[in-house]
Amino acid sequence: MQDWQTIIAQCQSLDELEKIRIELFGKKGYFAKEFEKLKNVPNEEKPQVAKDLNKAKNSLYSLLQAKKDDLLQKAIQQKLQEDYVDVSLYSPRSLKGAMHPVNYTMDKIIDYFIALNYAIETGPLVEDDFHNFEALNLPKYHPARDMQDTFYFKDGKLLRTHTSPVQIRTMQNQKPPIRMISPGAVFRRDFDLTHTPMFHQVEGLVVDEKGAVSFANLKFLLQDFLHYMFGDVDVRFRPSFFPFTEPSAEVDISCIFCEGEGCRVCSQTGWLEVLGCGMVDPHVFEAVGYEDVSGYAFGLGVERFAMLIHRIGDLRSLFEGDLRLLEQFR
Ligand code: PHE
Repeated sequence: MQDWQTIIAQCQSLDELEKIRIELFGKKGYFAKEFEKLKNVPNEEKPQVAKDLNKAKNSLYSLLQAKKDDLLQKAIQQKLQEDYVDVSLYSPRSLKGAMHPVNYTMDKIIDYFIALNYAIETGPLVEDDFHNFEALNLPKYHPARDMQDTFYFKDGKLLRTHTSPVQIRTMQNQKPPIRMISPGAVFRRDFDLTHTPMFHQVEGLVVDEKGAVSFANLKFLLQDFLHYMFGDVDVRFRPSFFPFTEPSAEVDISCIFCEGEGCRVCSQTGWLEVLGCGMVDPHVFEAVGYEDVSGYAFGLGVERFAMLIHRIGDLRSLFEGDLRLLEQFR
């Protein structure tokens, strides 16, 4: 009889081992033949011979399995060795990644409010009429809806035109007090130097007991925030209108960006609008079932901030993915 144990032990490859397996355990293999021979063994010896045969079969089978695991491990190790890539190797062609200016600006804004313990809330990009308009005191056929060039779906849903619907969703799901910002993408049908159909806003909302939140608080907060963002600028509040705030204001900063450059970003007034804000309109609280509260809200466009911080002239260039632009922001 052949010394199967040695044959298995000396086997060097999985292919070879498979051949051995078939030779041993295959339909016409060694053990099949040996069991076949059993019928010629005298009856009284049969049990013992069969027992020995089974034992030998089981032990060789385990041996074969162990060898197979062993060879598999070796094969994996060898493959790893062959495929080894030294990721730390210096390549003169490798390009370093960098933050996109919009993300950089977004993070900087968020950092400010996180430090003041504001919660970050998010909402769906595909909104319904109620959250995007109705609950924000913009009933159907209200002319102020025209301020927002809306993308509609056939079923009446729409792409949110601002982050204000997140105010509504947050108030619907939480009891006051509320102190939140909501960063995210918004959509409007608009495309020129300073408008892209998709852009980003950060919404802010603070609600507390009636009388606990005032316009003075809002003013202080936004002044401090704008100094954090833009340094030593003048800030002014200009009366304005939003259906969801009353009173409402737009916030301008003094134009420090263009000295000697022939100013494209600032209007002739020397002021630059950067924020919308106001005290939350009572109709909005009514729509979400809040009573005896007061609050303020504000909203800003992130791209606009990014353009100012990085002195970018054409908003559209932020979304073209042109490395010549992006590489400047390492
Ligand atoms: N949602 C307003 C816009 O997109 C901005 C805003 C938010 C104004 C909150 C006031 C209060 O134009």
